[in-house]
Amino acid sequence: MSARPLGVALVGYGYWGPNLLRNYAEMAEADVKWVCDLRPEQLAKVGARFPSIQLSEDCTEVLTDPAVDAVLVATPISTHHLIAKAALEAGKHVFVEKPMTADAAQARELVELAAARGLTLMVGHTFVFSPPVRKVKELIDQDVLGDIYFITTQRVNLGLHQRDVSVVWDLAPHDLSILYYWLDEAASSVVVTGRACIVPEIPDVAFINLKFPSGVVAEIQASWLSPVKLRRTIVVGSKKMLLYDDTENVEKVKVFDHGVRVTEPSGFGEFQLSYRTGDIVSPKIDYTEPLRFEAEEFLSAIAEGRHPVTDGESGLEVVASLEAAEYSLRNDGCEQAIHRSGCAHLRPS
Ligand SMILES: NC(=O)c1ccc[n+]([C@@H]2O[C@H](COP(=O)([O-])OP(=O)(O)OC[C@H]3O[C@@H](n4cnc5c(N)ncnc54)[C@H](O)[C@@H]3O)[C@@H](O)[C@H]2O)c1
Repeated sequence: MSARPLGVALVGYGYWGPNLLRNYAEMAEADVKWVCDLRPEQLAKVGARFPSIQLSEDCTEVLTDPAVDAVLVATPISTHHLIAKAALEAGKHVFVEKPMTADAAQARELVELAAARGLTLMVGHTFVFSPPVRKVKELIDQDVLGDIYFITTQRVNLGLHQRDVSVVWDLAPHDLSILYYWLDEAASSVVVTGRACIVPEIPDVAFINLKFPSGVVAEIQASWLSPVKLRRTIVVGSKKMLLYDDTENVEKVKVFDHGVRVTEPSGFGEFQLSYRTGDIVSPKIDYTEPLRFEAEEFLSAIAEGRHPVTDGESGLEVVASLEAAEYSLRNDGCEQAIHRSGCAHLRPS
C-alpha cells in the first residue's frame, strides 16, 4: 500500500454508486475526494451524509483535480467509454462498472489506453469477489470436481425491464464473468435464442449456449420474467458435481460425490454404466461483502502496479461475448464466433 491514501472520485451516484461510496469511505487506504452526478438531488444525499466530500455535476472538474488518483465509474453503460477514456487520458486509474463498455471496440480502446499510460483498469465484475464463487474456483483449481464437463446457470426473477438493453446485457455479464473466472478461459462461440415477450424489440428472456476451447459447454438462462427468483448454478465434473445457489442463506455451495462411469464392455457393442451417489458436503464459507474485496483488489493492484483479477482484458472478453450473444439473439439463434475484436462489423447498417 502507498504511504498516503489514494485520492478517489466517484462518478455516478444512482442505484449502485452509493454501494461503492460506502465501501471506499470506510477504507483507510482511500480518501474519497469527489462525488459527481448530473442530478443535484443525488449530490445532496452525499452532502448530507459525507460533508467533507466535494460535489460536482461536471466530470471535467473532477478529472482535472491533481488530488484525484483514481476514478470509479458507476454511470449507465452507454456513458462508460466516454468517462473512462477521459479519466485515463487525465492520468487517473479507472474502475468501471460492468459491463465495461457498450461494445468490444470501445473496450479494446480502453485496454490499450490504460496499457500505454501504465494505469490500472479494472471492471466491476462483483461476483468474482463473492465468497461462494471464490470457493467454487478453489474447488475447481484443486481438482475436486475433476475435468469440468458442463455448467448450467439460471439467473431469473420478475425483474425490472431495462429500457435500452436486452436481458443479455443486463444479466449475463455476471454469469459470463463467473464462468470465465472459474474456467480460466473465455467462450469461443455462442448460440442464443430468446424472445421479447413484453416490450417489443427488448428481449426479456434468453437461453445463452456457450462453447469453450477446452470442450466445456455451458448454458445461461437469463430472464426478467419468472414467478420465482433463481440464482442457481450446476457444475458437472468427471469426479464430482456441484450446486451453487446464491439465494440460500447458508449452504450456498454443495458438493455431490455423484458420478457415472462406463465399466468394462460386457460384449461387442455393449457397455455398462455404474452410477455413484455418495456424500453431499457443504463447505464452510466465511461471508464478507464482495464489494469490500473488490475495492481492496482495486487499491492493491494500483499500489503493486499489477493487473487486478477483473482487469480490462476480462472486461473486454465479457463485452465481446455479450456482443456476439446479442448478434445471435437478433439473428435467429445463429452460432456466432466470439472475437475479441467484437462483431460490430456484422451488424446491419
Ligand atoms: N456490480 C454490480 O453488481 C452492479 C449492480 C447494479 C448496477 N451495476 C452497474 O452500475 C452502473 C450504474 O447502474 P445504476 O443502476 O446505478 O444506474 P442509475 O441510472 O441508477 O445511476 C446512474 C447515475 O449516473 C448519473 N450519470 C449519468 N451520466 C452521468 C455523467 N455523464 N456524469 C455524472 N453522472 C452521470 C445519473 O444521474 C445517475 O444518478 C451500470 O453500469 C450498472 O450495470 C453494477
